Amino acid sequence: MEVDSPDGRIALTFLLTEAGQPAYVLSRDDEILLDTSTLGLSFRAWPDMKKGFRLVHAERHTLEEEWQPVWGEAASIRNHYNELLVLLEEKQAPFRQWHWYFRAYDDGVALRYVLPAQGEVEEVVLTDEHSQFQLTGDHQCWWIPGDWDIYEHLYSSTRVSGIDALAKRKHPSLAQTHIPENAVNTPVTMRSEEGLYLSFHEAALTNYAGMTLKVDTNRLLLESELVGAADGSKVRARLPLTSPWRTVQIADRAGDLIQSHLILNLNEPSRLDSTGWIQPMKYMGIWWEMHLGKSTWDMASGRHGATTENAKRYIDFCARHGIPALLIEGWNTGWEHWIGFEDREGVFDFVTPYPDFDLEGVVAYARKKGVELIGHHETSAAVTTYEQQMDTAFQLYRRLGIRAVKTGYVGPIIPKGEYHHGQYMVNHYRRVVEKAARYGSMINAHEPIKATGIRRTWPNMMTREGMRGQEFNAWSEEGGNPLEHTLILPFTRMLAGPLDYTPGVFNLSLNPYRPDHRVRHTLAHELALYVVFYSPLQMVADLPEHLEGQPGLEFAKSVGVDWSESRVLEGEIGEYITVARRDKASGHWFLGALNGGQPRRLSVALDFLEEAREYVAVVYADGPDAHWDTRPGDLEITEQPVKRGEVLEVPLAPGGGLAVHFRPL
Ligand code: NOJ
Ligand code: CA
Repeated sequence: MEVDSPDGRIALTFLLTEAGQPAYVLSRDDEILLDTSTLGLSFRAWPDMKKGFRLVHAERHTLEEEWQPVWGEAASIRNHYNELLVLLEEKQAPFRQWHWYFRAYDDGVALRYVLPAQGEVEEVVLTDEHSQFQLTGDHQCWWIPGDWDIYEHLYSSTRVSGIDALAKRKHPSLAQTHIPENAVNTPVTMRSEEGLYLSFHEAALTNYAGMTLKVDTNRLLLESELVGAADGSKVRARLPLTSPWRTVQIADRAGDLIQSHLILNLNEPSRLDSTGWIQPMKYMGIWWEMHLGKSTWDMASGRHGATTENAKRYIDFCARHGIPALLIEGWNTGWEHWIGFEDREGVFDFVTPYPDFDLEGVVAYARKKGVELIGHHETSAAVTTYEQQMDTAFQLYRRLGIRAVKTGYVGPIIPKGEYHHGQYMVNHYRRVVEKAARYGSMINAHEPIKATGIRRTWPNMMTREGMRGQEFNAWSEEGGNPLEHTLILPFTRMLAGPLDYTPGVFNLSLNPYRPDHRVRHTLAHELALYVVFYSPLQMVADLPEHLEGQPGLEFAKSVGVDWSESRVLEGEIGEYITVARRDKASGHWFLGALNGGQPRRLSVALDFLEEAREYVAVVYADGPDAHWDTRPGDLEITEQPVKRGEVLEVPLAPGGGLAVHFRPL
């Protein structure tokens, strides 16, 4: 039984194996992309659901709609799919029922199951889900280990047969985390020998454990392996139980993976009636100076970053440059007892400022200067302490007019045995988003659960980390992220949703604070991140003294954070990418191009500009001596008149980039 994509190219075929196990085959243009892949569940104190099923009923649905996200990469999104629903029942007692949904879109497919209420049984305990993806080739693959606690790994690029996830657990800062035998986290992206791109992920992860993919390197077989819980199970749920969608994005161009809205389309519409308080924006932070070691989060060091005086200094800078918001970390007590401590419960206090930080005074000062503050809740993964204080903490921010909060979960989860990506935490992260919505608060989560498109349903879930971000340039073991890192993220992590990478470091050498660390690309590349990396809350990360007087700052100030249209003009994973986006507020187009290690001549057809309109292109390019290693700061800013139909040609330095603001005349 088959369901086809609206354009007829992709086919998802459902079948029951001889043993009565549900399975599917995925093909496109009659070429098999995933061969017979079986589906199964195993339980505690209940027989497996694998074999012995028969088809009772099947039905088809089609949806074609256009919906408008509150904010995002596009003002309007088309959602068009064909769906097959099959109702299965066991041939023998206890005659359990099992429903599977198969959806085919033009840009990929998705499948999920529902376990309806079954007689006497009210609750089930899953010990794993066995959804397979049987690859048909030894694809080139970009992957991170299937770590149960953290996604902040470097990407490896190997054939599927060469995936060796355990060997990648070599960073001491990540050593405490749990990585199973040989599994990867999603999104995991692949390129076939024929040049077809596939990416595997999940959508609408709700009341369930996160999914890693166990890799059988001999059979080229991926199988879902859910993140565990303290009691050794994976998922505990009352019936009916609805699983997240298992997704496969399919594209001929790597850039089309980025343009796909599959993950969002698989989520439910917004639950919020009023969304006027939700606003994408740029922000600075008393933040980078702690990562550089110039100051500290705690007060005991004598170099406290979040002082009243320092906050006013940042607020003045924001006001002078029209940067709307300021994040302040380390303002509340508890930081003396943070990283490395076992007993972290009851330590952080989310409402009590350090004595050298006049919270009310800083808020009043910021208001006077027209700058809004962004709150911070570092929980140190002591979840119970946070849940106990959450209402008071959000209430305080609401009273102070603070409508965005960054959360953080550094360290192993307490209670011990729970993991950042398990069901316990999936539910916690969601409670925070719902609670925040009640208090009119936008969330930027660090050390989060991966994005699965929940932002459609909860548009106050703005952005999140969940990757190795800028901060690793300041202190990681290998002296910073490798050059290709920013060229892999758009095709992997970013397919899940917005990323708080925190661009905007202008002092790329990190001197004098971290002489043994650096940012491995040019300033033009750093500016281009504002366009390539999507985040509705986008940081201008560097210190005021590093930004003041920098001509390139103008780009960071003018670039949009909420887009009516986005186009990936070209891109190869780990090599280069060029993206153009149109700002929803001003209607202006912006362009960002990232280059890899080899010099390159970029040639962009300006077909996206409006017909019969004159523009000035403000071009932020690599200077003649620019090189990520020797002259990263060499930036050349020029202006030139341009029109639709013309071609913009610009040389890109090794590790270079290009950022352009097209200003209509
Ligand atoms: C880790 C976060 O990623 C970082 O942004 C933050 O500054 C620290 N935790 C402290 O909360
Ligand atoms: Ca982090």
